[in-house]
Amino acid sequence: MKNDSGKTISIWMTTAEVPDQPVLAENLQADVCVVGAGIAGMTTAYMLSREGKSVVVLDDGPIGGGQTSRTTAHLSHVLSHYYYELEEIHGKDLTRQIAESHTKAIDTIQAIASRENIDCDFERLDGYLFPPDTESLDELQKELAAAHRAGLTDVELVNKAPIDGFNTGSCLHFPHQGQFDPLKYLTGLAAAIQGYGGRIYTGTHVQKITGGQPARVETSNGQVVTADAVVVATNSPISNLATMHFKQAAYITFVIGAKIPRGSLTKALYWDTLDPYHYVRLQHLDEEHDLLIVGGEDHKTGQANDADSRYVRLEVWTRERFSQVGEIEFRWSGQVMNADDGIAYIGKNPFDEDNIYIATGDTGLGMTHGTIAGILLNDMILGRKNTWAEVYDPSRARLSATGDFISENINVATQYLDWVTPGEVDSVDKVSPGTGAVVRQGLTKVAAYRDENGILHEHSAVCPHLKCIVAWNSSEATWDCPCHGSRFDAQGKVINGPAIDGLAPVHSKSTV
Ligand code: FES
Repeated sequence: MKNDSGKTISIWMTTAEVPDQPVLAENLQADVCVVGAGIAGMTTAYMLSREGKSVVVLDDGPIGGGQTSRTTAHLSHVLSHYYYELEEIHGKDLTRQIAESHTKAIDTIQAIASRENIDCDFERLDGYLFPPDTESLDELQKELAAAHRAGLTDVELVNKAPIDGFNTGSCLHFPHQGQFDPLKYLTGLAAAIQGYGGRIYTGTHVQKITGGQPARVETSNGQVVTADAVVVATNSPISNLATMHFKQAAYITFVIGAKIPRGSLTKALYWDTLDPYHYVRLQHLDEEHDLLIVGGEDHKTGQANDADSRYVRLEVWTRERFSQVGEIEFRWSGQVMNADDGIAYIGKNPFDEDNIYIATGDTGLGMTHGTIAGILLNDMILGRKNTWAEVYDPSRARLSATGDFISENINVATQYLDWVTPGEVDSVDKVSPGTGAVVRQGLTKVAAYRDENGILHEHSAVCPHLKCIVAWNSSEATWDCPCHGSRFDAQGKVINGPAIDGLAPVHSKSTV
């Protein structure tokens, strides 16, 4: 598939034939306009079109071309926060609903794949959460009790995870998790949406979203979609200037895919409990090999540029635990939006008209949170009561999460110091072909990228969202904003919100 979300290639980009869709070339009217063709947008569009609503989906990249193509596609109710932590933040009742909703999301993916005959490698399998040496058995027992209180009564403490040659020690066993190929799934969803009369347009950049009767979605080419409701499912909402972006933080997470002999490891989902944690699964590669997919080594978006050493640390961690690991076949990264209280924000966009809905804050559980978004937003738009609405309400402010809220926003505030620091190099002449660097020019800074042919492309380094200074990501050849996770390709085109516009060009091209 066409990959415009970064330079690296995930396994899913090589396994799925995602169909091209037309660019929107006319004004349209629909019951619902969905902006974003990732897991959340496509699931919502599927649910609504199946219920007879007319739906238009718009995306400026291909279907699944954003972070859905960069997930490891764990389907689980094991979240990035412990259940006892979720209880402290959300209370026991809502925590039960969090567990229930993720369980339901896995069931829903399985049901949709079956109903629509989507061959997406969906499988049920066990999950194992194991602690590093430093963590006590007490911690696991505390989590086991909380998981049971959350309704996950089949979770059990076992002596070790089924990894030959590596003793994880005691760990928690979560039965009945799942995994799939996310792009094969979206390919099937696209066909199903179109079968129910839905319309999908890619290569179509949304420039402006306005609520009201009707809501309006305007594209950069001048077309307008009018609709009774708009769902903004763009990883980070482009319809919301500030409110949501103070409640979540963008992180880059890294993944390697290593060849191992087929059948040499029990197929399961594995996680450790480090911070950041490691996450592991298998994917069929060929007759003789599986691919061992291992992720972790997260850092805040735009606040480090050392992917090579992170990939090395991932490989070392992997080889220490899985002795059968052969060649590393894949290295890729993706962006996650971590909500300050550990679960996604799904529902009406705060301080907006009543008919603008958002889904964001995947918090590392993008596939299940995206599916929950489909279920919940479908009910909300159809006027049906859904008890998850309170759980995932984007307007919520859970007091116990204020510590994370404050520390993340202090971190954002310090990023504005980049306005007064020197550039990464003192002249664009020092930017080598195929690389980029931020260069000071007078009172401002320039994002200078020199392509492989030696042609220099200069853009303002000022992020059009709320004016932080972007940083070069050499692994993905992107400009990443350290404040709220906007990302731009090497030539300044926006590829991830909340920014709607690209980096402003400042010069004509020049060569060395
Ligand atoms: Fe908010 Fe860049 S993403 S300032």
